[in-house]
Amino acid sequence: MKKAIYPGSFDPVTFGHLDVIKRASEMFDVLVVSVLNNKVKSPLFSVEERVNILKEATKDLPNVQVDSFSGLLINYAAEKNINIAVRGLRAITDFEYELQIAQTNRKLSDGKLDTIFLTTSLEYAYLSSSSVKEIASFGGDISQCVPDFVVDLVREKYKNIIQGETL
Ligand code: PNS
Repeated sequence: MKKAIYPGSFDPVTFGHLDVIKRASEMFDVLVVSVLNNKVKSPLFSVEERVNILKEATKDLPNVQVDSFSGLLINYAAEKNINIAVRGLRAITDFEYELQIAQTNRKLSDGKLDTIFLTTSLEYAYLSSSSVKEIASFGGDISQCVPDFVVDLVREKYKNIIQGETL
């Protein structure tokens, strides 16, 4: 069985991530999409919410499993018996960050965890979860960036945040 992990924050999942998920799911028997439970960042969606969003967004891809992890990716990958991580590369600006993570993981795992990169489709090259949140926080249209049900969930979050702020 050829297995791979696609780790990330997915806060929230965008069409760019979904494009990578679909393409990677065609290359492996099992693709585990795993949300990092990072206590340092303050995310818009909880880990549970992000896992549920990913499950809904990938429900038509039977070999995609959605999970979450804490701590080092290399330990999580070893527990799952997986030795390939998948990441998307949008532009040269991603490269330095991604190269560092990939090389660190390879070194830390004594060569057991390697990373493959899929170049993001050009139509999604500009997309990021951060820009989706920024656009939504100012009431902008994010329907080109995330699935419709995610548009609603993001809008709901910002409605609550704005209401909370004005109380
Ligand atoms: O979507 P993101 O936030 O760019 O994903 C980053 C991620 C989750 C791939 C990376 O931060 C990660 O794997 N973190 C887990 C901790 C770890 O293993 N760090 C060592 C590599 S620097």
